[in-house]
Amino acid sequence: MKAFSSIANSHCSFLLLGLLLLFASSLSLANAETHFHDFVVQATPVKRLCKTHSTITVNGQFPGPTLEVNNGDTLVVKVTNKARYNVTIHWHGIRQMRTGWADGPEFVTQCPIRPGGTYTYRFTIQNQEGTLWWHAHSSWLRATVYGALIIYPKPGSSYPFTKPKRETPILLGEWWDANPMDVVMQATRTGAAPNVSDAYTINGQPGDLYNCSSKDTVTVPIDSGETNLLRVINSALNQELFFTVANHPFTCRSSRRLLPQTLHHFSHHARPRPNHRRPYLRQPTTSSILLSGTCLPKRPRCTIRQYNNNSHS
Ligand SMILES: *[C@@H]1O[C@H](CO)[C@@H](O)[C@H](O)[C@H]1NC(C)=O
Ligand SMILES: *[C@@H]1O[C@H](CO)[C@@H](O)[C@H](O)[C@H]1NC(C)=O
Ligand SMILES: *[C@@H]1O[C@H](CO)[C@@H](O)[C@H](O)[C@H]1NC(C)=O
Ligand SMILES: *[C@@H]1O[C@H](CO)[C@@H](O)[C@H](O)[C@H]1NC(C)=O
Repeated sequence: MKAFSSIANSHCSFLLLGLLLLFASSLSLANAETHFHDFVVQATPVKRLCKTHSTITVNGQFPGPTLEVNNGDTLVVKVTNKARYNVTIHWHGIRQMRTGWADGPEFVTQCPIRPGGTYTYRFTIQNQEGTLWWHAHSSWLRATVYGALIIYPKPGSSYPFTKPKRETPILLGEWWDANPMDVVMQATRTGAAPNVSDAYTINGQPGDLYNCSSKDTVTVPIDSGETNLLRVINSALNQELFFTVANHPFTCRSSRRLLPQTLHHFSHHARPRPNHRRPYLRQPTTSSILLSGTCLPKRPRCTIRQYNNNSHS
């Protein structure tokens, strides 16, 4: 009798475990969200370097909107083209699992979206997290049509490091004091190299090295002793950039497998090649001490730590 009841009990707990697992898996499905966004590609007046240009943007924002999702979520982005150029949007670094038509390169996975047309991109993020970005994948519209795509861990799971106090996307870019489409068309017509850009930008702002830009420099606050996460994205069209933070070594975080490394700067080529490492930074005056090959994760997360020296604030 005793033996019988213990068998019955163990069946019972087996069943209970099964139910719990079922519950847990439906819970994790329920946690995955679908995010709907409207991207309107349109000409917008943008003033940089003392002049206003009719710049192609998404939703009138330059850089474009930051998309924030969790691993496992689905993105549905309806792109409406109100500009005068064909356009497509590429989700840079996203592994399109059976959603190849959402990848974006024009004439590769889709026909371009014509002026007046729309196209809806739909894809699910599967086992990816970190800092990615999106950009136009048609001619040089990429010069101004880009934004950050941040993938947080699944709800309930954590970063592979202590959660930083603040997180800031840093989009490095290039600005032409001209219509970038004219720049590339002139190069195609003449066969000469395209004009080099007139400014480097951080989050779309040239900063106080350039004329008419001193009030618009991007500021990232950090308190002494605190750790912040900078999500650095190289959205420059053509240039290899170096990234450094004056007097602040930082730790580059990539995948869970790579050890954090303390660095003073790192580099990234703007045009990723197959198997080429990804991102970033620039400090024109120190470009001769470029350190490459140390921190070349596929999707780095870079943590900067306040340098503990009271003579620097
Ligand atoms: C614009 O896109 C359409 C198809 O979507 C294509 O037929 C046409 O050639 C494209 N124009 C240019 C200039 O690429
Ligand atoms: C490229 O640079 C040359 C020389 O400065 C200039 O004359 C030309 O207008 C530029 N082209 C564009 C499309 O801005
Ligand atoms: C700022 O403007 C002055 C006067 O127009 C010009 O000489 C100088 O080259 C400009 N500097 C930059 C960084 O564009
Ligand atoms: C702090 O920085 C100043 C200026 O760079 C340097 O002279 C000083 O030795 C530093 N102090 C410490 C404790 O590192």
